[in-house]
Amino acid sequence: MTGATSPWAVCLIASSAPIRLLTTCVAALETCGWMPMKNDTDRPDPQEAHTNNTAWESYYTNPLNQPQLLDSHSPLLKNRGIMLWDKMCWLMALLALSSGVLPGPNEPLSAPRIFLSFKELKSTGTAHTFSFLLNSTDYRILRMDEDHDRMYVGSKDYILSLDLHDINKEPLIIHWPVAPQRKTECVLSGKDTNGECGNFIRLIEPWNRTHLYVCGTGAYNPICTYVDRGRRSQGSHFLQAAQSGGRTSRAADYSDTSEPLEAKEYIFRLEPGKVDSGKGKCPYDPKLNSVSALINGELYAGVYIDFMGTDSAIFRTLGKQTAMRTDQYNSRWLNDPTFIHAHLIPDSAEKNDDKLYFFFREKASEMGQSPMTQSRIGRICLNDDGGHCCLVNKWSTFLKARLICSVPGADGIETHFDELRDVYIQPTQDNKNPVIYGVFSVSGAVFKGSAVCVYSMADIRMVFNGPFAHKEGPNYQWVAYTGKIPYPRPGTCPGGTFTPNMKSTKDYPDEVINFMRNHPTMNNAIYPVHKRPLVVRTNVDYEFTTIAVDQVAAADGNYEVLFLGTDRGTVQKVIVLPRDDLQTEELVLEEVEVFKVPTPITTMKISSKRQQLYVGSVLGVSHLALHRCDVYGEVCADCCLARDPYCAWDGKSCSRYSSSQKRRSRRQDVKYGNPIRQCRGYNSNTNKNTLESVQYGVEGSTTFLECQARSPHVSLKWHLQKENSDRRKEIRSEGRILKTDQGLLIRSLQSSDSGIYQCTSTEKNFKHTLVKLQLVVLSSRTVNNVLVDTGSPALPPLQSSAWTPSAGQYKDLLTILSQPEMGLINQYCQDYWQLGDVSLGDNKAKSLKELKEQKKPRNRRHHDELTTPAET
Ligand SMILES: *[C@@H]1O[C@H](CO)[C@@H](O)[C@H](O)[C@H]1NC(C)=O
Ligand SMILES: *[C@@H]1O[C@H](CO)[C@@H](O)[C@H](O)[C@H]1NC(C)=O
Ligand SMILES: *[C@@H]1O[C@H](CO)[C@@H](O)[C@H](O)[C@H]1NC(C)=O
Ligand SMILES: *[C@@H]1O[C@H](CO)[C@@H](O)[C@H](O)[C@H]1NC(C)=O
Repeated sequence: MTGATSPWAVCLIASSAPIRLLTTCVAALETCGWMPMKNDTDRPDPQEAHTNNTAWESYYTNPLNQPQLLDSHSPLLKNRGIMLWDKMCWLMALLALSSGVLPGPNEPLSAPRIFLSFKELKSTGTAHTFSFLLNSTDYRILRMDEDHDRMYVGSKDYILSLDLHDINKEPLIIHWPVAPQRKTECVLSGKDTNGECGNFIRLIEPWNRTHLYVCGTGAYNPICTYVDRGRRSQGSHFLQAAQSGGRTSRAADYSDTSEPLEAKEYIFRLEPGKVDSGKGKCPYDPKLNSVSALINGELYAGVYIDFMGTDSAIFRTLGKQTAMRTDQYNSRWLNDPTFIHAHLIPDSAEKNDDKLYFFFREKASEMGQSPMTQSRIGRICLNDDGGHCCLVNKWSTFLKARLICSVPGADGIETHFDELRDVYIQPTQDNKNPVIYGVFSVSGAVFKGSAVCVYSMADIRMVFNGPFAHKEGPNYQWVAYTGKIPYPRPGTCPGGTFTPNMKSTKDYPDEVINFMRNHPTMNNAIYPVHKRPLVVRTNVDYEFTTIAVDQVAAADGNYEVLFLGTDRGTVQKVIVLPRDDLQTEELVLEEVEVFKVPTPITTMKISSKRQQLYVGSVLGVSHLALHRCDVYGEVCADCCLARDPYCAWDGKSCSRYSSSQKRRSRRQDVKYGNPIRQCRGYNSNTNKNTLESVQYGVEGSTTFLECQARSPHVSLKWHLQKENSDRRKEIRSEGRILKTDQGLLIRSLQSSDSGIYQCTSTEKNFKHTLVKLQLVVLSSRTVNNVLVDTGSPALPPLQSSAWTPSAGQYKDLLTILSQPEMGLINQYCQDYWQLGDVSLGDNKAKSLKELKEQKKPRNRRHHDELTTPAET
């Protein structure tokens, strides 16, 4: 937007984040009749924080900007209208500032360099929300199938198969509700308080080449089934050839010619007549989280397996091996756990050593113990058969250890992030040693805080190979077990590297099994790499809920980019750079609003191959590109200062960095973000995007000069060059002048305030003029004269505008508005309502469209008769 700041902008700036304020502003204007009261059906919903601004702007068409009041060619009069708005919103701004609603400059670390609202993100074209209207909720399960280019989504009553490139492109949808009778039974059992009597899909696992295994809560009666996600072939010849694995030339011919058709023939349907019980696979209660892994035809699940939700277990079902579980109601094993993640991590090249790791949090074992919640990593051997004397059909290799994520405070007291919320396993070249990222939050309601901690498999294995925790009796403390440890060491997998002659846990000596039963916990806790979190957030009003990580090659090295979902529906993109003395520097590259309404993000999946992040919440599922380089700005310095490893200046624009680009023109500096060095030769035109404009103000009134930096890391300076002077003087907050993060507020304008105002940003010694504007201060007498000249008598009756001010009223208004008190506004409104004879009813009936079509309402004689607008 060039030229004078639109009143709309001022109102928005004034109210910045809080919609409440915006609503008040609008309501005040409306009540007083300064804005048309309109039919509520058109009105954007202020509760929807992300109602797009265009919608508001077009809904509230400022009556004073309507040409029936003013000659639209007169900038002066146009500005008069603006000024009124300005004043109103100015008051709001002042209220906002004084009540501290505007974001302060605290927490510079966690302030993202770029924040994109839902609307802004959408307008970049790099994010898409699944937009098919299903009567569904809780899009919690995202299962990526990169081979088939699909994303399977499980929500309430629905299973979706979406295209990984564009989730809105011809989705395949299975509606899988529970039978009405089951629903009735569930409701009768009193379980439907929040709609829990639906079929919440909680498990989607690939079963074989053609089928998925899917489970849902089935209205408190979990059920599972198979979903056919194969491709329908054109003829049985091809089908047979493909199934026998032989690509005969004939089959090849078929597949070549039928390729496009085949893509359309992708099948997605429930396999008829194949419904299993979901007990031990999927919870009854949709509020309880479960995790699962289907490995070699066996389904491993961490789940509550009863109606009441008291019996938690790690279960094995479905396959040829015996069904297994954790010891029932044994709080030493699992104590009210919340399951977060399950992942197979091999221990050696020997398959028999393979272990499945479970990540969960649970109640601390001792009553009254602090913290109340502890985060855990547990593991079992895949080939565990249980004991033969005791622990029959129960895991005989289950061990768990505590995961610590804490920071020392200034006073020496550790801040513990005890509640594990999500885990991301970053694969490395060595599949035995992935990197484990965990997101944690502070337990209890003392304050909001969250952190990311990183763990190495070496540290994890060291703890599992260390001492076991031991408790002599109820009145004893937990200590490290120092007695003799039986052989084979408890937790060792049968038939593995250390036990080649014991093919099954049933061959283990009784003392090993007995030891396991009483010592499932390791004595030592697992600390994060460098003994501290990678990222910490405290003193902010949000928490991290999810994590995904991408590895990115940049010009100056490889970077791990963290994508962190929050409980307010945003995703932050963060990198952490090593600095001297083991210190790190955290950069929040961007924060984007993924959902229209703030809602906790529950699930995230990343595809590095497609450079997409998939995000699920109660409201829906979205995908967004991992980068949108052009958002950082149009000059080399902007690109460089952004320090996004995905992006580099290519000589013309900020674009996706690729190592194959010509080195000469490519500029990127993630480590230091130094534009002066990096952008040599490109800096000459950095000011080409400076906004130049003229702004009018009336003597004695208030004006707002807008200048907002995109990045929170810059410092803004204002300079004034008065007319007939070549000296530029820096402006500071004093007296009538208030510097805000959004711009400069000048009260009681004086003619000496006229001049050229320049707003300059400085970041890393890089200076950049953002705004250059000429402020013209008009004497109030001039304005009054103009008002009298074009005076009210010449105006048509009040049809399109709720209020036509007379010169007198206008003057009153000016006087009253210079007092920053809302009471006076009310007072004014009261007087006005008594005085004015305003036909608001007519306005009420006016639709937005009508208003827009009224190019020249001046020509309307009375409101029923529409004459063709004549151009002047
Ligand atoms: C709003 O407009 C719609 C159609 O334009 C009409 O049916 C409705 O009665 C109006 N409501 C009010 C409150 O005027
Ligand atoms: C904003 O709202 C207007 C009016 O409702 C609509 O025409 C426009 O497409 C919306 N823009 C975006 C980006 O949602
Ligand atoms: C949507 O689902 C809820 C609960 O399952 C049901 O009560 C409601 O009638 C459904 N609405 C529609 C439009 O189908
Ligand atoms: C996959 O499993 C389903 C369900 O058991 C079965 O009907 C189907 O034939 C299997 N497909 C293949 C290719 O084995």
